[in-house]
Amino acid sequence: MALGSAVGAQQPPSETTPEAMRNKGFKLTQSREGQCTLCHSIPNYKGVMGNLGPPLEGVGARLNEQQLRSRLQDSRKINPSSIMPPYFSTDGLNNVDPKFIGKTLLSATEFEEVIAYLKSLH
Ligand code: HEC
Repeated sequence: MALGSAVGAQQPPSETTPEAMRNKGFKLTQSREGQCTLCHSIPNYKGVMGNLGPPLEGVGARLNEQQLRSRLQDSRKINPSSIMPPYFSTDGLNNVDPKFIGKTLLSATEFEEVIAYLKSLH
């Protein structure tokens, strides 16, 4: 998990509180960048949610941080036929718009914010 630990080693800006990170992560799950709610239901969200993936309620208790990180980084490493997009990998993606080649779906900061949010789901 070289990439995962490189991400983990990144220091958040000093004014960022754990609560602010969780709140940003919660917002990202519903944003164009995240789109998690297309496939997952999440607690305390009233909008339309999909059910292609399991509900994320309690996922921070079911999975440890390493499992959450590898799932979000590249779901295909856990399940090769996963339909969940790889949020922090550019490996083996086909038909990528040239302006997005080499870019990850989430930035390193956004990745940490979504992980902070997932960890808080108990
Ligand atoms: C296109 C549908 C889709 C999208 C979008 C999606 N997921 Fe998933 N996700 C899945 C599916 C399906 C699974 C079940 C495992 C599998 O098939 O790979 C899953 C599994 C998971 C798991 C493991 C759940 C468990 O109980 O084991 C987590 C955590 C997760 N997703 C988080 C997210 C987050 C956070 C986002 C947004 C940043 C997201 N997913 C976006 C489809 C999706």
